[in-house]
Amino acid sequence: MNTPRAITIDGPAGSGKSTLGASLAAALGFVYFDTGVMYRALTLAVLDADIDPSDGTAVAACAERIDIGVQPPTVADGRQYTITLDGRDVTWDIREQRVERAVSTAAGHPAVRVILRAQQRAIGMRGNVVMVGRDIGSIVLPEAPLKIYLDVSIAERTRRRSAELVGRGDSVDEHALYDSIANRDARDAHVMQPAPDAVHINGDTQSPADTLAYVLSLVPAGMRSHP
Ligand code: DC
Repeated sequence: MNTPRAITIDGPAGSGKSTLGASLAAALGFVYFDTGVMYRALTLAVLDADIDPSDGTAVAACAERIDIGVQPPTVADGRQYTITLDGRDVTWDIREQRVERAVSTAAGHPAVRVILRAQQRAIGMRGNVVMVGRDIGSIVLPEAPLKIYLDVSIAERTRRRSAELVGRGDSVDEHALYDSIANRDARDAHVMQPAPDAVHINGDTQSPADTLAYVLSLVPAGMRSHP
């Protein structure tokens, strides 16, 4: 089997997998690819076309029709990448609350996952990539030489998110925040599929910097230098 120079990171929302993935990719000179943006872009297309996100056949047909692009940032406004939907810049639109509410439903249909996973796999097999999601090590790129599963407890994710909001001057109801993170995990439970051979990291007990250093120490020597 062809072995891609790819690292997979799976984990729940808010676990820090995007931060880890982006900094790991930067350290290795790899592309950072967050597969969640594809499900979000599809959900935006579904909502804009007045399709019911729970109608699997219609959502899958929409997934076949649309063209989702993921490129390096085209605007210096704090974005990690630019996402396009049929050529339109939707980088910030995919973070809207209406997308947030519907994405787990739209992403859960097996026919939809077949279509998006094939696109993700094609990108992953090109190599030199850190790919982040929920099922990347198990289904999308099972041949990847290094697979990480990053978990952080709901209590710790609540603490971090709360500190972030307070830092921005927002008021925080920690109980409501805890519940919203727990609800999000519950909604995503059906798409979460860690690889059996993934290295599990508990982000509660390690800082993001320590986690990055640890993951870098696991990268096989052959993946460190470009061909
Ligand atoms: O990582 P995120 O919060 O941006 O993901 C958005 C949604 O997409 C979330 O509901 C889970 C889903 N998702 C998925 O089903 N499979 C992936 N590989 C990545 C994300």
